[in-house]
Amino acid sequence: MISLLCVFSFSSVAQGHRAIAAPDTFSSDVGMAVLQKGGNAIDAAIAVQFALAVTLPEAGNIGGGGFMVIHTDRGNDFIDYRETAPAAASRDMYLDKDGNVERLKSLFGIYASGTPGTVAGMWEAHKKYGTLPWAELVQPAIDLAENGFIVPEKLGKKISSYIERMSKRDVDINFVDYFGHAKSGELFKQPELAETLKRIRDNGTDGFYKGKTAQIIADFMTQKGGLLTAKDLADYTAKLREPVTTQWRNYTLVSAAPPSSGGVAISQWLNMYDLLAPRTKAADGSLTPMHPHNSTEYVHLLAEIGKRVFADRSEYLGDPDFYKVPVAALTNPEYIAKRASGVKRKSISTTEKIRPGLTESEQTTHFSILDQYGNAVSNTTTINLSFGSGVVVEGAGFLLNNEMDDFSVKAGVPNFFGAVGGVANEIQPFKRMLSSMSPTIVLEDGDVRLVTGAPGGTTIITSVYQSILNTLEFNMSAQDAVDAPRFHHQLLPKDEIRHHKGLQQSVIDELNDMGYKVKERRFGDLHLIHVKEEGVEAASESHGRGKAQVSAVAPK
Ligand code: GLY
Repeated sequence: MISLLCVFSFSSVAQGHRAIAAPDTFSSDVGMAVLQKGGNAIDAAIAVQFALAVTLPEAGNIGGGGFMVIHTDRGNDFIDYRETAPAAASRDMYLDKDGNVERLKSLFGIYASGTPGTVAGMWEAHKKYGTLPWAELVQPAIDLAENGFIVPEKLGKKISSYIERMSKRDVDINFVDYFGHAKSGELFKQPELAETLKRIRDNGTDGFYKGKTAQIIADFMTQKGGLLTAKDLADYTAKLREPVTTQWRNYTLVSAAPPSSGGVAISQWLNMYDLLAPRTKAADGSLTPMHPHNSTEYVHLLAEIGKRVFADRSEYLGDPDFYKVPVAALTNPEYIAKRASGVKRKSISTTEKIRPGLTESEQTTHFSILDQYGNAVSNTTTINLSFGSGVVVEGAGFLLNNEMDDFSVKAGVPNFFGAVGGVANEIQPFKRMLSSMSPTIVLEDGDVRLVTGAPGGTTIITSVYQSILNTLEFNMSAQDAVDAPRFHHQLLPKDEIRHHKGLQQSVIDELNDMGYKVKERRFGDLHLIHVKEEGVEAASESHGRGKAQVSAVAPK
């Protein structure tokens, strides 16, 4: 965690700085070097994504997927590089003969992976927005894999504790063969991954989805009995979609579209909050929230809203290519007002009565980037849980995702993150599984104000909307905004509020007295850039191993 503050006049803010908040120092430095070379935010994002595939194996990847939200002077964009179900996938593939969910099968081992989307996503981003040569953006990752990097202590511990946990489970994974020798403070090289990255550097998207890499993956799948085929890989496409763009106060929220639930959920949460949270008006017209930050009233109000947001998520959200997701209806101000009207200010709504309204450890990782041209990228990427399926493609050296668990494997049965779903998110060949990843850019008068995002399964949505409230409602510095205690409620488990890094004990006691069950659980680390009148702040949450940095552009 490093936070730097540089001072600029507002008119020069957009073009006066470069900023990055990324989940580790290697990727942050790779991204800043690209920006300093004159590359734009999208160039930097591509280089960061590939670097993370080497230095942040718990979530950085080429074997997973993600979402990229982009703001440039050409407008706003959304690249969906979410994984897809392989052609051989089927609705009941994770049920045993009695119809019970075989949870380990969708989480660990060869059967848990969707077709990876990351390389195709980066390729699309580069085709449309890249300014530096592709090979230059992949090269830093190759260097890190080939020459090695010193394993940070937190990563070393994460790897050893994962190996220990997995040794007690009945799962068929080969993680230890590839990561068993990655020890804190020691050099760690990944030669097979370096060769795979070289093929991607030299052949672009075909270096992964066709030719030698695709053949290695397909052969490995055949040998181990997995589902992914060479045809699944050849058929994969990343999609350019419209981001979910909605208004909140005088801000424009630009966020992830379905197959993410993030953009819809964040818009619902913030706009219901505005209808329900009282504010006092000062003589100068400024508004001050009456519920103090993280007070009992504040937590209860946002938990009540969360019940409604997650009831809608479970019913209406899924892959828009397979299921008509009513984004406009779910974010319509009249609908939001109707939903908000049911919120009880003093007591907890009965969970069972909250219906959809229209009729790991947890991992994933995120980075936020702003360039000297006023462009921004908010990118969240994942292989689902820490270290994904735990399976490394032998000969290609990268971890495969366990994203299939993000489908609703059986209607009404929660996934790892406790999220339930139905038809909208049931498994179908080639379909994208529903996500909570919520990379978000907040604009004011068309200019970037915030670039934010986080990992953490369903708590991603909470981390993101609370980072927006912390900065724009409670005027916190970027560092305070990412480090402030957060809390989360998602309808199920019934009346459970999760928090991390400590709500005050008196607030916990009052919430327990109201009937909530307050539990401590870690959320993912936020990475935030905040453009303010007086300059730019970037912050990565202190508990992670991220690095945020801002550099001033020398005046011409
Ligand atoms: N794998 C977590 C998510 O996409 O929400």
